[in-house]
Amino acid sequence: MGEKKNIITIDGPSGAGKSTISKLLAAKLHYTYLDTGAMYRVVGLQVHRSGLDLETAKGKKELTHLLDSLDLKLASGADSQEIRAFLAGEDVSEAIRTPEMAMVASRVSAEPEVRIKLTEMQRAIGNNGAIVAEGRDMGTVVFPDAKHKFFLDASTEERALRRQKQLLEKGQKIEYTEILSQIRKRDLDDSSRALAPLKPAADAIVIDSSEMGIDEVVSFILAEIDEGMTRETFKH
Ligand code: DC
Repeated sequence: MGEKKNIITIDGPSGAGKSTISKLLAAKLHYTYLDTGAMYRVVGLQVHRSGLDLETAKGKKELTHLLDSLDLKLASGADSQEIRAFLAGEDVSEAIRTPEMAMVASRVSAEPEVRIKLTEMQRAIGNNGAIVAEGRDMGTVVFPDAKHKFFLDASTEERALRRQKQLLEKGQKIEYTEILSQIRKRDLDDSSRALAPLKPAADAIVIDSSEMGIDEVVSFILAEIDEGMTRETFKH
């Protein structure tokens, strides 16, 4: 096997704290933060706006055209931890962060063509290493030779609470029970799809953060990375 890439993968279900943790890790390590969920959300937004019906042959054909001409960019915002998403030059960062777009993103992410296209883009971004890549299939499919892999989980109820708080901070008031059922549906769809389903890589460290604070999780991951580096040094 070749040299493992300087890539940290953080996979896990929605609301497990992946974004917060990944951004903090990237900032501490001076790595680039790659939010692959945002990429699926942008494609979802474009599919939604174009009114494609992916259940029909016509819709699938139109999806091919849409992906061929997809103009998707991620860039750092004013605050280096903030990532802005652009669709054909339009800043869609807020438009993609709604519960509705989360469901649409989950739906389009089951389309093989979408996964192929985004996997290719993600690998191009990760080519030089030094990234923290967050998503569902980072350690299993996109970066199987990443140096450090983590799978961040938390109980469904805790994740629903966290998501509700996050949405409230953005002025979106949604019932807890509704968020809980959306999370359950998305978990099921994301982990039961045929291609690149949500699951920990065989060599990932699984972290249950239900009862852990953010700083605790970040310290734990940094300690694991340090330990992994030390093991590597002794091997050579
Ligand atoms: O992480 P998120 O909530 O922004 O992701 C939105 C959806 O995108 C998620 O429900 C499934 C899909 N996704 C994926 O299939 N693979 C990834 N690497 C990231 C996200």
